[in-house]
Amino acid sequence: MLILGLESSCDETGVALVAFDPGSPGLPQLRAQALHTQIDMHKAYGGVVPELASRDHIRRVVPLVRQVMEKGGRALADLDVVAYTAGPGLAGALLVGAGAAQALALALGKPVLPVHHLEGHLLSPFLSADPPAFPFVALLVSGGHTQLMQVQGVGQYALLGETIDDAAGEAFDKCAKLIGLDYPGGAALSRLAQQGRPDAYAFPRPLLHSGDLDFSFAGLKTSVATQVQRLLQAVQDGGAPGLSEAQRADVAASTQAAIVEVLVRKSLSALKRTGLRRLVVAGGVGANRELRAQLDAACARMQARVHYPELALCTDNGTMIAMAAAMRLQAGIQQPAAAGAFEVMPRWPFAVAAPA
Ligand code: KG4
Ligand code: ZN
Repeated sequence: MLILGLESSCDETGVALVAFDPGSPGLPQLRAQALHTQIDMHKAYGGVVPELASRDHIRRVVPLVRQVMEKGGRALADLDVVAYTAGPGLAGALLVGAGAAQALALALGKPVLPVHHLEGHLLSPFLSADPPAFPFVALLVSGGHTQLMQVQGVGQYALLGETIDDAAGEAFDKCAKLIGLDYPGGAALSRLAQQGRPDAYAFPRPLLHSGDLDFSFAGLKTSVATQVQRLLQAVQDGGAPGLSEAQRADVAASTQAAIVEVLVRKSLSALKRTGLRRLVVAGGVGANRELRAQLDAACARMQARVHYPELALCTDNGTMIAMAAAMRLQAGIQQPAAAGAFEVMPRWPFAVAAPA
């Protein structure tokens, strides 16, 4: 079966072609993909501007579909299903991908399959060179979500804990902004952190000892803001215009240390609590090198395996959407639907059930 996947929930337009053999248990394979990121466009505004995002998705989606079909060496008529991100995300942005997928499917006489964006992230490690096996604990860390989940199989996701305020990626981005880094600052902050001292400032580790698996990152941002303000006051009193590179690097390293420590400790608690020995990390923050290094070391100590998506598949992309659709079809848990009337779900809970 040949699945086309469209992603447009936020500031990336992603399209991909994934194939699987319904008669074989092998994992679906990526045939071709293309991605356009709007990051440069939103940078000037310090964050995603929803209206601009929607308009840019409109400009990009059809050329990207053409590009992917050409790269994959297949015709549109060869498609079996058109999958798309139905939520959660920006309503206008989601409507573009959903509308394009529905129109294409309707014109081709093919069915559609709406996909949950977070399920895309969650299943993206199955396309890596070292794919996981079920069951596992998943740490989903993106710009909009921070969740720990117990995953028994495709479509079987139980929520273990989640953030009660900001997401980890949001914390990275907000703190990055405080030290003058462009949106989205997560990757830039982590690069700057390499030159800094992680113990320069003792930023809070919220909910570290809460006894549950929830997260909270809003207080960290406040604490970093206060520290930056204090440093700024001191350097300005001394006649300097702003923080030195070394000071910014220290703030970056200390911020990263606080976020990473909480994510690592809670992930280990989730493994202990569930008795599972396999951790899967997904979402944009999963690209963070310090997080990967600390998780690798901690999991090795408790003889647990840890899996990550390929770096390029950590942030939003069409591949994970086509992959999630393919895995749901292959597992027989979702049938494609006839194209036609549709809706998107800007707020779409992912897994709310407590584990059995
Ligand atoms: O999964 P994603 O592309 O978008 C959402 O679905 O939200 O994640 C984007 C988030 C942003 O907050 C970005 O700053 C963060 O992932 N991110 C990173 C790194 N690369 C991306 N955060 C920390 N370190 C990184 N290397
Ligand atoms: Zn995402």
